Amino acid sequence: MKQYIIIALALVFVVACGGKSGGGETSDSGIDGKKIFKTNCVLCHGEDGKLGLNNSKDLTASKLSMDERKTIIKNGKNTMTGFGPLLSDEEINAVAKYTFQLK
Ligand code: HEC
Repeated sequence: MKQYIIIALALVFVVACGGKSGGGETSDSGIDGKKIFKTNCVLCHGEDGKLGLNNSKDLTASKLSMDERKTIIKNGKNTMTGFGPLLSDEEINAVAKYTFQLK
């Protein structure tokens, strides 16, 4: 009987810790900015950031700093809706970082 309890505890441990680690494409924070971009941003900005739908800006041409980008992503600007309610600070951080990689 005691053995079953130990096995059950071991399983809980694996399930609880296994979820977030692992996976290849993640950034150092463990959050995949590219994936967040594809889910939330391509609608207006396009896969490469250049689409410019709904008057959105070409992200590859943006001169904004990391902090300015994070503020716009969080609070929105004009037709761009803010993602503050949808994404965590870490996710906003990761996706802002990703916008610098667009070419
Ligand atoms: C509903 C369409 C829409 C979506 C979805 C959207 N954006 Fe935007 N985005 C815009 C528009 C429009 C602007 C231009 C705002 C302005 O300056 O008038 C903009 C501007 C920006 C800017 C500032 C660029 C600059 O140089 O001024 C950044 C950075 C940005 N978006 C990132 C993102 C990210 C990251 C996401 C996904 C989390 C996202 N956007 C989703 C429409 C959108």
